[in-house]
Amino acid sequence: MNPPARDAFIAALTKIVGPTHVITDPSMRASYETDWTGRFSGQALAVVRPKNTAQVAAVVSLCGEHGVPLVPQGGNTGLVGGAVPSEGSIVLSTTRLNNVGTVDEVAAQVAVGAGATLAAVQAAVRPRGLDVGVDLASRDSATIGGLIATNAGGERVLRYGSMRRQVVGLEAVLADGTVMKHMTGLTKDNTGYDLVRLFAGSEGTLAIITTVLLQLVPLPAKRTVALIGLADVATAQSVLTGLRLRLPQLTAAELFFDAGLELVREHAGLSAPMPDRHPVYLLVEAADVSDPTDALLFQLEKDVRIRDAVLANDTKGVAALWDYREGHTEAVSALGTPIKLDVAVPAAALPAFIAALPLIIEKVAPEAQMFMWGHLAESNLHVNLVNVNGDADRLTDAVLDIVIRSGGSISAEHGVGRAKAAWLERARSAPELAAMRSIKVALDPRGIFNPGVLFPE
Ligand code: FAD
Ligand code: MLT
Ligand code: ZN
Repeated sequence: MNPPARDAFIAALTKIVGPTHVITDPSMRASYETDWTGRFSGQALAVVRPKNTAQVAAVVSLCGEHGVPLVPQGGNTGLVGGAVPSEGSIVLSTTRLNNVGTVDEVAAQVAVGAGATLAAVQAAVRPRGLDVGVDLASRDSATIGGLIATNAGGERVLRYGSMRRQVVGLEAVLADGTVMKHMTGLTKDNTGYDLVRLFAGSEGTLAIITTVLLQLVPLPAKRTVALIGLADVATAQSVLTGLRLRLPQLTAAELFFDAGLELVREHAGLSAPMPDRHPVYLLVEAADVSDPTDALLFQLEKDVRIRDAVLANDTKGVAALWDYREGHTEAVSALGTPIKLDVAVPAAALPAFIAALPLIIEKVAPEAQMFMWGHLAESNLHVNLVNVNGDADRLTDAVLDIVIRSGGSISAEHGVGRAKAAWLERARSAPELAAMRSIKVALDPRGIFNPGVLFPE
């Protein structure tokens, strides 16, 4: 865009949202231009912060007229570079669309602005005895719009499913500036295509989500967490299989390893959870209306494979055990910019996959340090590589190659973003890719939404 056209465009944006909400100053744009990991960045023409759906629609229409790409951004906690600006784009920040509506206790639903953080929604609904089914460590910044756009998973998928399952209604601005709304909240509604859940996992490539109707879950009054030390991953899987069969109160089953635990402890200054160290840790949580401690203890006590376990059922103790798990992301990032590979493999292939990783990585990047953790119930492993001097793409390729050959997914919960767009072709079949491209072209014919994300440019 030449300077006079650019100035006219910025002036028109300013007319829509007001001068304080069009950010062109490079130092003020900076935090919107780099992702949480520090690995992905780009330069935006401007950052725009609309306050309502009408303003979003006007911004989208203006961008359409000028052919300016739009990158939707919520809390910017995404881990695949999906919210960083592409060349010549504007970042549309949703953080001012943060209204949290009145909780409908009968339907157990609440309408929220796409820019409301998960923590804000939790704070609004928990006093009513309700909760959001998805929870994750980025809750203070991650927005409901971003969570849906990435179809985020997190810690309670085994009980409540990922974000797609929590959405019953949605309002979104389409590429031509029209507002599409389906907010009836009816759980039964078979009038054609499911246009609401189509946007789950769309990563900002189909529309800008502006309002969301969330289906809430009952907030369990009692929560018990056990951190279990084990010999290996196969044993962790087997312990979990037993718990899933016999403990209906189970809400979480998280996996981490000795190296990760030591790193988290050092980074956060935490004491050891148990006297001895163990190769593998399984953190399980049970939650119910009545105290699930006895039920959990009953299952664990008789299991001779458990080397050691600590248990907590008070708020402080539960949070302290979760800190060992939730602290991994920050602790690894403190070592340097990580390459983050969020993958899933079939459960039967997980132990062999984990065993094969060090050799594969050593061949490509002998200098790399690897830390792994994940959500065991979905065989979702986060492979994090730091201190990589060599070619990040070659390393990514080596790991994703064995994921694909194991019948796994190259992105279990973080999305494809920019980080894995080049691998999408290997992950989905030709007919699937053709159908996905048809949907993209039908909804965004000029390709103004998030170019380079999901589909390679
Ligand atoms: P952003 O990062 O701003 O955007 C993410 C994507 O969504 C981009 O493609 C963007 O264009 C699009 N987008 C955002 N808002 C909208 C909108 N309104 N309309 C259309 N598109 C939009 N993820 C998990 O799945 N599970 C975890 O357990 C988990 N734990 C995390 C822990 C930490 C400490 C951190 C930093 C991240 C974690 N994440 C996890 C990743 C991240 O929090 C999620 O991907 C989250 O869904 C992103 O929300 P956000 O508002 O920050 O979105
Ligand atoms: C997690 O489960 O910790 C998150 O998905 C974040 C991450 O992988 O770093
Ligand atoms: Zn995760």
